[in-house]
Amino acid sequence: MQEFHDIVLIGSGNVAGQLAYALEKAGKKIVQVYSRTETSARQLAGSLNTEYTIDLNQICQKADLYIISLTDTATGEISTRLDLVDKPVVHTSGSLSLDLLCGVSINHGVFYPLQTFSKNRKVNFREIPLCVEANSTVFLKMLRKLAGEMSERVLEVDSERRKMLHLAAVFACNFTNFMYYIAGKIVERNDFDFEVLRPLIEETAKKVMKDKPQKTQTGPAIRGDQEVMGLHMDRLMNEPELQEIYRLLSREIGKMKI
Ligand SMILES: NC(=O)c1ccc[n+]([C@@H]2O[C@H](COP(=O)([O-])OP(=O)(O)OC[C@H]3O[C@@H](n4cnc5c(N)ncnc54)[C@H](OP(=O)(O)O)[C@@H]3O)[C@@H](O)[C@H]2O)c1
Repeated sequence: MQEFHDIVLIGSGNVAGQLAYALEKAGKKIVQVYSRTETSARQLAGSLNTEYTIDLNQICQKADLYIISLTDTATGEISTRLDLVDKPVVHTSGSLSLDLLCGVSINHGVFYPLQTFSKNRKVNFREIPLCVEANSTVFLKMLRKLAGEMSERVLEVDSERRKMLHLAAVFACNFTNFMYYIAGKIVERNDFDFEVLRPLIEETAKKVMKDKPQKTQTGPAIRGDQEVMGLHMDRLMNEPELQEIYRLLSREIGKMKI
């Protein structure tokens, strides 16, 4: 296995795009982008000034590393159709096992960035925890090195623990964002702009940067204020699903050990 310099990106979505910029910043070369649709393959390849293909059979065979960053279902599908023999290959999923790629190459691994990515938002990769896993010590060492060139936070994590990290990320990020959505609907229905919530959202996130969430929890549920909770339930009378969420979360907050 030679040092990873020339890299093929299989996928052109949120993660592939952000990875590409971080890899280039670390001095690597993206030699080709594969995606199933020409528009997205061309777009990412264009921004990297490199080649693209939409044909799996045309994937460049001479790269040092292949990074599969497709949706989890598509990664599963492609892993049955792609044969890279002994070329090092990784996927970027939080919830797929390392073994999924064992039919793709003798050298398979995982390169999972614990962050939320969107296509048009650049992130500082130096701060992102990069979770690496590989099926051999040599490959793992090389992945660690690559990750270390991109980020200050490199973690060796096996598939089982990575899946738990991903589960935690769903709570910390995806569910939290959905709460913003609910809050936004409530304020907008009452003629406020979502903007009115932003200082609160910002301060909540800032507090938890310094302290554990057990220390920063506020609100009627942690105070056990039945009267306020009752008023809120009345106002959600026509939205039984939101009542259910409110009731469940308040009950669990009430059980928090401070
Ligand atoms: N987004 C995050 O915040 C994040 C964070 C960490 C890890 N991850 C993981 O990284 C991986 C990629 O996530 P992402 O957010 O970058 O995904 P995404 O933006 O939805 O990108 C999806 C990519 O998969 C391709 N694709 C979708 N359906 C396909 C199919 N049926 N067959 C073939 N290709 C298909 C798309 O191709 P076309 O555009 O050509 O259709 C695109 O290149 C996933 O495993 C995800 O779990 C995501």
